[in-house]
Amino acid sequence: MLMIFSAWALMFITTFLAPPKHLWALITAQGFFITFFSISWTFLQDFNFSHPLFFMDKISAPLAILTCWLFPLTMLASQSKMRLEPIARQRTYITNSTFLQFTTLLAFTASDLMLFFIFFEASLVPTMIIITRWGTQERRLEAGMYLAFYTMLGAVPLMIWLTKFYTTHGSLCPTFTHTMHITQAAMNCPGLFWATCNTAFLVKLPMYYFHLWLPKAHVEAPIAGSMILAGTLLKLGGYGILRTSPLLQEVTLNQTLFIMLIAILGILATALLCLRQTDLKSLIAMSSVSHMIIVITAALVSSPWSYSGAMAMMIAHGLTSSALFCLANTSYERTNSRTMILLRGVMLILPLAGAWWLIIALFNLAIPPSINFAGEVLIMVSLFNWSPVAFLIVALNLIFTTAYTLYVLWATQRGPLPKHIKTLFPCLIREHLLLLLHISPGFLLILKPELLFCI
Ligand SMILES: *[C@@H]1O[C@H](CO)[C@@H](O)[C@H](O)[C@H]1NC(C)=O
Repeated sequence: MLMIFSAWALMFITTFLAPPKHLWALITAQGFFITFFSISWTFLQDFNFSHPLFFMDKISAPLAILTCWLFPLTMLASQSKMRLEPIARQRTYITNSTFLQFTTLLAFTASDLMLFFIFFEASLVPTMIIITRWGTQERRLEAGMYLAFYTMLGAVPLMIWLTKFYTTHGSLCPTFTHTMHITQAAMNCPGLFWATCNTAFLVKLPMYYFHLWLPKAHVEAPIAGSMILAGTLLKLGGYGILRTSPLLQEVTLNQTLFIMLIAILGILATALLCLRQTDLKSLIAMSSVSHMIIVITAALVSSPWSYSGAMAMMIAHGLTSSALFCLANTSYERTNSRTMILLRGVMLILPLAGAWWLIIALFNLAIPPSINFAGEVLIMVSLFNWSPVAFLIVALNLIFTTAYTLYVLWATQRGPLPKHIKTLFPCLIREHLLLLLHISPGFLLILKPELLFCI
């Protein structure tokens, strides 16, 4: 564990000492090295690891591995644009994104909920820097403001609650809170209490009504920013909800019915909104909102099956939506446009990229033996157990998910070739490698899905 953390720290040194010519190669290689070692965490018995500072179990370890996995991929993805910039700017870009991934990783492996909270908030700073400094359009400042204000407002109640919890129970260690039986004094509105304590996570995930910052942030962010946002930052919220829910055990589903209702209708609403988007990146962002709200419903149902489903869903979504952003970026780098109508008919020019679009779209709509499907089935089964009506509404969402995914596929791949895209440069091996590395864990996890099950 410490070895991996020192490898991360070495990353900063490499960034500043590496000769400009080999900068990206060295950084990417080192990233893959870290990934390789982080995979060794799967050999731990039940992912259990504890140390005064670090702690891992079945909820945090898969997400920590996902964070390490995505880091070299973001570096692979951002090379072509960044190479054109002055060398000092390249170096600050790399340090900022390393710092971002590193704080996320520390948040997932922190042994104390207060530490988790600190790193959770710390990840906001580099995200904002990446969006506002390396974003491409002038609305990026607005996107940064949205991101900062939504996140910070949500964080206040959580901090108050954590402090209160510490003063009454004397510890915030996740293991301790799992074993302890908490007897809370009777409250007036436990549902409201649940919602306020979890606002920080609900904003991060994001819950419907709190999701406005996400499409903005995604549209303005550079590729590494989008990948990290979709891949790991949203999962911080999901992790937080799953982690703190044993502390709020007294709250039953009936008291949070209102939140459940918003969540379920939000799934439908965002899926429908996806059908009306014209901007490719904001469509993918909306589809992440729709997928992550399913995680909220799973956390609300809170049965072992729904937790396992939520884990599988988060990992699958991290890989798939990050891959979708990479694909959107390959089109964007060639045409400088995110408007879907301008990207029509690319399949004729880039057939292999067309194949990737198809595979990743199929993953996004949870085609059977994929890990996305496993997650969705587990969540749907536990929802059905709770209420068949809720199940029916979420099942309706499957149709809309299929509809908008096919819409993306058709809008970007099929149709007559517009006149302006006759001179595209072909797909590079780097891009194929990038997509392959996104999809292969999805395939491999099908063979061993119990890695993600926290029963
Ligand atoms: C992030 O970038 C800014 C410049 O925009 C730089 O001043 C800062 O040191 C960078 N942060 C890290 C952690 O390297």
